[in-house]
Amino acid sequence: MQISRRSFLQKGGALSTALWGQRVAPNSKPVVARPALNPNSLEPYVDPLPIPGVARSVGYRPSPADPSVQVPYYRLEMRELEAKIHRDLKPTRVWGFGSASPGPTIEARSGDGLLVEWANELPRQHFLPIDYNIHGAEKDKPEVRSVIHLHGAKAPPDSDGYPEDWYEPGKSKVHFYPNQQDAAMLWYHDHAVGINRLNIYAGLLGAFIIRDAVEDGLNLPKGKYEIPLILCDRLLSPDGQLDYLVSPDPKTPWVPEVFGNAFLVNGALFPYLEVEQRRYRFRVLNGSNSRFYHLSLANGQTFHQIGTDQGLLAAPVELKSLVLAPAERADLIADFAGHGGEKIVLKSDAFNLMQFRVSSRGAEDPSALPAALRRVSKLEESDAVRTRLLSLNEILDFYGNSNIMLLNNTHWKMPITENPVLNSTEIWSLINLTDDSHPIHLHLVRFQILDRRPFHKFPYQTQRQLVYRGPAVPPEPAEAGWKDTVQAHPGMVTRIIARFEGYTGRYVWHCHILEHEDNEMMRPYEVVPA
Ligand code: C2O
Ligand code: CU
Ligand code: CU
Repeated sequence: MQISRRSFLQKGGALSTALWGQRVAPNSKPVVARPALNPNSLEPYVDPLPIPGVARSVGYRPSPADPSVQVPYYRLEMRELEAKIHRDLKPTRVWGFGSASPGPTIEARSGDGLLVEWANELPRQHFLPIDYNIHGAEKDKPEVRSVIHLHGAKAPPDSDGYPEDWYEPGKSKVHFYPNQQDAAMLWYHDHAVGINRLNIYAGLLGAFIIRDAVEDGLNLPKGKYEIPLILCDRLLSPDGQLDYLVSPDPKTPWVPEVFGNAFLVNGALFPYLEVEQRRYRFRVLNGSNSRFYHLSLANGQTFHQIGTDQGLLAAPVELKSLVLAPAERADLIADFAGHGGEKIVLKSDAFNLMQFRVSSRGAEDPSALPAALRRVSKLEESDAVRTRLLSLNEILDFYGNSNIMLLNNTHWKMPITENPVLNSTEIWSLINLTDDSHPIHLHLVRFQILDRRPFHKFPYQTQRQLVYRGPAVPPEPAEAGWKDTVQAHPGMVTRIIARFEGYTGRYVWHCHILEHEDNEMMRPYEVVPA
């Protein structure tokens, strides 16, 4: 059956268009509607929340930065696995690392480098629909190929996981992570050009946590009171297998966004977590392809955000809800004291994600929520040597269907246009000419959000003239720390400021809606020597 995507969304209902800060373009490409599992037909909260294990190094090797120093050596194997995502579902085929998806968490100390050998031990055939028209995914390429990127890392270019540096099953590549950066939760995921959306959807992702002395000194909840929450929305077939939307034209299966109605938290559907009456620290990652989450606790209780993508905020921000775009992270403190016996649901708008079951017994809480966390020194606009005007574009085909997404109207293969000088500061003005919010991510650097300002599209489209419709809006307090991914809203110019430090060489910047990134909302950029 072929129906337009819009009517599919309306009929399906479960695939809500009521995504905060995001709307589905009226002319989006149609999708094929296939029979799907209704997750609400399953009993919720019967499986405990899985907590990813901590990766263990397999030995030591000389550091590429200083061969006289030995650094831990990890080997993580990408494998096809059977995952039990719900008590009443048969195992689901996924791709993960070692024996799990999400893969094991890598724990690192700031300043202490480590090596990871990323081994591709996947089968030779993909189980999700490749679109061979997409740049980099042509028929002459191997079906299964992968390269792992550590999102948020300040890593040398040959360890960053450049999208074209993919390799086939049976091969592996060693990446060096110097970890010369502040405490933060990063995440590793596939980045193979043209099929990255399918590889991550299959499950190739995991957490990587860097810690440092500043964080140690804060007495935040730790150990079993610090828990990663990795959020991925999926579509499931009636027999509980991963399904991925395609367009009705079998020659061009790509669709511009994929939203699931089965919400996996750490790989489980509707899990529960027994908690004590005390503070917990939740390291939340939006690992979804396209979905923005609007998170809150169903009992209306507030929580505090203490950190963002690239680490701690200057001070905690009290929130009732929080919007998290694909690839963004939020470091949250929730306090269950005084909620003994309650069952509290974590939700995203109308969708329930998981349940916290608060013990009725009172608990000691030696942890703290300090009023000041870390000094975040502001990057000054006056330090910027250059401002780049960069548009976000959606190109429609003859029928008004979404065809391709671009950055600055430029394809992946065109010559480098963004070439900041090492150790210089630049402002990037992201001029969103589309109808969607795009989470824009830069590799290598951390940045700060300067502001967002509404503008008139027409003068920009016709004469490249920025005519504003209103005043600039500063970032939300919870976004006012170090970021590596920013929500660029439609009709707004979003300005970010970054110092390009660490390494010279080739990196990428892109939209982190994975369907956009693959087709072709991604560009190389190069940090050049001073
Ligand atoms: Cu999550 Cu190019 O990265
Ligand atoms: Cu990245
Ligand atoms: Cu996008």
